[in-house]
Amino acid sequence: MKMTVIGAGYVGLTSAAVYAQLGHTVYLVRRNEQKLQELKEGRIDFFEPGLEELVRQGMESGKLIPTLEYHEPVRSSDVVMICVGTPPMADGSADLSQVFEVAESLAPLLHGYTVVVNKSTVPVGTGERVEQIITSLLSPGSTIDVASCPEFLREGTALEDLRAPDRIVIGTDSIRARAVLLELHRALPGKRVVTDRRSAELIKYSSNAFLATKISFINEIANLCDEVGANIDDVAYGMGLDPRIGSAFLKAGIGYGGSCFPKDTQALHSIALQYDYEFKLLKAVIEVNQAQRRQFIRKIKKTLGEVRGKTIGVLGLAFKPSTDDIRESASIDIVRWLRDQGARIMAYDPQAEQKALAALPGLQVCPSASETFTNVDAVLLLTEWPEFRTLPWGMLKERMNQPIILDGRNVLDPQQMRQMGYTYYSVGRP
Ligand code: UDX
Repeated sequence: MKMTVIGAGYVGLTSAAVYAQLGHTVYLVRRNEQKLQELKEGRIDFFEPGLEELVRQGMESGKLIPTLEYHEPVRSSDVVMICVGTPPMADGSADLSQVFEVAESLAPLLHGYTVVVNKSTVPVGTGERVEQIITSLLSPGSTIDVASCPEFLREGTALEDLRAPDRIVIGTDSIRARAVLLELHRALPGKRVVTDRRSAELIKYSSNAFLATKISFINEIANLCDEVGANIDDVAYGMGLDPRIGSAFLKAGIGYGGSCFPKDTQALHSIALQYDYEFKLLKAVIEVNQAQRRQFIRKIKKTLGEVRGKTIGVLGLAFKPSTDDIRESASIDIVRWLRDQGARIMAYDPQAEQKALAALPGLQVCPSASETFTNVDAVLLLTEWPEFRTLPWGMLKERMNQPIILDGRNVLDPQQMRQMGYTYYSVGRP
């Protein structure tokens, strides 16, 4: 099939590369000339394992065609996919201006029958508004259906998630659009959830909100474990063995971050309010997540006392491993607070250094994880990069002013750390 993907950000670029790999001809619209040139040269401005290679293969095979100009691609495509950003506004609701601008600009170009797919995470009812905008500007003789096909990809494993999805959600009442979208995804595994557009839009928000709820729930249980002297690892394991609960997303720590959970939980809460419904549980989930960072800061204060004048090593700045994304990163928040309090930070992240420096100008970054131990009063582990597990912990202790580790991700074994002579604290483990 022939398709145009509008928006070459995270979702747009990864999706376009995978659709091209499936054999579709994919025009990928990048409206910034310099960024387009970089893309054509195989340079991508974020880190995602395997993506550069897949994009290069797609371009070499002629299936993936980055373009600035999209008149002809849109005109000749069976499917046009909107993948632009929906950043949060001050009140937490999603800013849909880019979605509507795209709808306006592509409407007059559409020709014959086209399925317009919203892949951006958008509030319930956005599909209808997009349809109204396009229909009012459509050239005579052309027809469209607007469908919602949310994605569920995770940063760091986006390509796997797109190539082996658990489910493919197709939200449209149109039989014709359903047939087109089932065909577009024919080569992919996963259950098909064929539903109406509003339900599809809500599936995306509800999924993210539920996962965020699991995380906030387990974090509260971890805080309780700290109080009562129980072990969150065992509690989460014991809970997760019940298939009705499931073991995924029960990892306690310093809370969730990233470009999705914080934004989407806020947006869903705000959508509910627009319908005069107070989503109390979700409000608590959001509050617990914010409080979890403060809880860890309290632990730092309790352990170190006054942080002013202290030197603190930080392992991990990204919001999670396998990405350079620092959006809503708990680590960045904690580092910012420590700096504001007068601590000196020596940080290391395998991928997020540049982005962290942009967010925290003047941050002292180290060329390796080991360097963050040199003459510091404590080391904080804030992102669970796998390489941190296998550091030569026994030796690194000797570099520190005092051997204190605060593990915000429960990565290390408390008993082993203490045996090595560390004063070791984590979240919800005695
Ligand atoms: C998430 C959803 O998983 C994905 O389906 C959706 O499309 C986009 O949002 P992502 O933000 O890439 O993906 O990361 P994810 O792996 O879900 O982790 C989000 C945050 O939750 C991270 O900060 C992570 O550290 C935290 N997390 C996750 C926990 O604190 N505990 C857990 O058990 C799992």
